[in-house]
This record gives sequence, structure tokens and C-alpha cells, in this order.
Amino acid sequence: MTTPVYDFVKNYASQNKERLHMPGHKGNGTLGVEKYDITEIGGADSLYEASGIIAESEKNASEFFGCKTFYSTEGSSQCIRAMVYLACVNRKNKNRRPLILAGRNAHKTFLTAAAMLDCDVEWLCPESGESYLSCTVHPEKLSQKLAATTPDAVYITSPNYLGNISDIKKLAQVCHRFGVPLMVDNAHGAYLKFLPESLHPIDLGADICCDSAHKTLSVLTGGAYLHISDTAPESYANQAKNALAMFGSTSPSYLILQSLDLANQEIENCKSRIAQLAENVKKAKETFAANGFGLCGNEPLKITVCPKPTGYTGYEFADYCGSKGFVCEFADSDYVVFMFSLNNGLHAPQKLAESVSNITKKAPLSSAAPDFHLPEKAVSIREAALSPCVTIPVEESEGRILAVPTVGCPPAVPIAACGEIIDRQTIERFLYYGITECTVVR
Ligand SMILES: Cc1ncc(COP(=O)(O)O)c(C=O)c1O
Repeated sequence: MTTPVYDFVKNYASQNKERLHMPGHKGNGTLGVEKYDITEIGGADSLYEASGIIAESEKNASEFFGCKTFYSTEGSSQCIRAMVYLACVNRKNKNRRPLILAGRNAHKTFLTAAAMLDCDVEWLCPESGESYLSCTVHPEKLSQKLAATTPDAVYITSPNYLGNISDIKKLAQVCHRFGVPLMVDNAHGAYLKFLPESLHPIDLGADICCDSAHKTLSVLTGGAYLHISDTAPESYANQAKNALAMFGSTSPSYLILQSLDLANQEIENCKSRIAQLAENVKKAKETFAANGFGLCGNEPLKITVCPKPTGYTGYEFADYCGSKGFVCEFADSDYVVFMFSLNNGLHAPQKLAESVSNITKKAPLSSAAPDFHLPEKAVSIREAALSPCVTIPVEESEGRILAVPTVGCPPAVPIAACGEIIDRQTIERFLYYGITECTVVR
């Protein structure tokens, strides 16, 4: 696998030419990476009009993923905005407002994209007793919804933050039966392509998806892919670069581009080690279970433990893990999420499990997250998000219209959506997740 972007920059850096171009550090600085941080000089190509080394690198990635793959240097966030844009501008019925049917556990970027593009959203909600971060979408439920409404796309988050992978194959079949494109936020799942049997959404029938390469591969923060399958409307691939450019900086990072470029080489040879790591994650999950922990999710490289049966909240158990030298990805009252990649080493999962699962057990905690319920909608997402607003204590927000998707990051999954009326149950959910202020329409 060639690495044209990396090779070009390395060669340029070795020449020590006088840099009379941006960036202002001119290749020198304390970080040590400045010499590789270039701009669109001659020969360096240009991300959104790629025809040279970046196009060649994207072609390498496309061959690997078996679809049309485009680079993003601004995360899945940029790709999500591009996906919503593509659904809106390619809608079949231009006489009505754009509409997307989406799993309610969507990342907040989906909401801000809907606000920017004035897109309506109909929600597929979590089942009773299910975490608001989870929201399993069953094919039958989707089928019933699509029989009653005709959205411009279906939008699913899989894997979700807690490590649940949806049945993308069946969901894609349902979408295609109704002639609706399936979009997947696969931010957490770039590595799914490299399992012995690929679980990548594009291989399972999704029409378009985004992967945060930086979340699970050896890629610098910000590096992501927008993948478009041959099953997607033709215009999606034709308009993909424009869609990404619409939401991206005109100065994309060449450090990130080199990192994406190098990842093509790395991923070519990682399959057997990924399989081994997944096997070790499975064994570590068994160790946690044998020590009384609950477990959540079926993602092969993520461990989500539920520590309440052992007498600790997620926050407390995350602190304990930190004191033992293990820093988790995310914790809330109920869950602690650990993410693994090959860079942790193959034995990291078992090391974690053996070091922390023998914590002194206490009486189980019975507290549970308030059940999800869908608040009443007052105005469109865009109207609420673009209205004059004010930040107030959550306790005083009953009856007000939420303006900004108030949520901590991670997990950045909104508890209520912009335009919804905050009711007593929503307030309880805000407080349960430690959110004490929210921004409402003035
Ligand atoms: C499910 C999900 N989607 C999208 C994003 C945004 O991805 P990025 O940080 O690559 O912009 C995140 C970030 O954490 C996420 O968890």
C-alpha cells in the first residue's frame, strides 16, 4: 500500500527550504511536529479538490473499504453534517421539508446539523428500561415506522457509546424495501472492517456511513472517513466533496492527512492481531462477569461494565480504575466504558480485568436511570437553535423550550432535543446525569 501524502511531506521536510508560506511556525517549534505541518503548496494537492497525492491516498482507502471513501480532518462531526446535507439536498419530494427518521441516541452533531440545514427529525426511541444512550432499533419497529412515514433517510448510531451494535443488515434490508437510504454513524466502528468477518456497516448494507478513524485506529484526533456504498443514490458520491467542504475549514490539517494516509498501510496487515485482541476482550469480559459486574454491549473491542451490582456507581468505579492506572473512555452513574486498540497491546484487556475486578464488593446499589420518555415538541430544531436564548438552572426550566442540545461530552448524546418542551421527567433526567443548567429559548 503506497503512502503518497506521508512520502511527499517527509521529503519536503527533509529539504529544509525557506517556507514563505503558511503556517506561521515555518516548520519550527516546541511540539516537534511543525516541520510536517504544511499547507497546500505545489504538489501537496488540496483535500476538497483532490486530484494528486490526496486523491491517490483516498483511492487506497476506498479499495480497502470496498466503497468510495473520503477523508475528513474534522472528525465524524464533519461527516455527519455532510450526510445530513446529502439527505436534504437529494430528497425526492422537494415540495415538503426534509425529514430524517433517526435513532434518539444520535450524537449532538446530528442535531446541530439538522438545525443548520432546517431538517425535521422523527425519532426512533429507546425501549422502556433501556438507557437513552442505547436505543436499539429493531427491524420490525423500523418497518412499521417506514410504512407510516416517508423520510429522506434513516439515521442509526451503531456502535453506540455503550458498545451495542445494531442489526445493520436487517435494518438496511428494511430501508431498501421502502426505497430509503440508510445512514450510519459508525464513529466508534472503523475497526469493524478488520474483524475476521467484517461487521462494518457498508459491508452489511448501509448506503453511507462515517467512521472516526481516530477513535479506534492509529490516527490523530480529527481523522475520519466518509464512506459511500454503490447502493447509495448516485448523487451522494458526486456531491460528497462539496458536502464535506461546506462544513470544513479551508485549511485542513496535513498532520491528520498523513496520519490517515499511514493508516492505510497499518490496516492492511492488522487482521489477525485484531482477531486476537477481540478474543482477549471477550475473556476480560468473562473475568468481570465472574467477579459480579454487569456487562453491556456486544462490541468486540469495547468493555462496558455496570458496577452497581458490586456496590459502586460508574463514577466511583472509574475513579478506582484511575487509581490503578487505567483511564476509562467514559463513566456515568451506571456504566464505565473502556476502549481497546492494538496500541494498548494484546494483553491489556486481561490486565485491566485482573487489576480492578477484585475490588472489595459492597451491597449492590439499586438506583437506576429514569426511564426515557419523549418530550413534547414546540418548534422546529432550527427555530429553537437559532432563537435568542438564555441559560438557566435546570430546576427552573419546566415549561421552557430547549434551545441548545444540553449535554456533557462524552457522551454528547442529548437528553432532550432543541425545540422540545422541558417537562418534569426531562428535568429529572438532566439532574440524574449531573446537568444543572440548560439553555432555553428566551
Ligand atoms: C457516536 C458518535 N458520533 C459522532 C461523534 C463525533 O465524532 P468526532 O469526534 O470524530 O467528530 C462521536 C464523538 O464522540 C460519537 O461518540
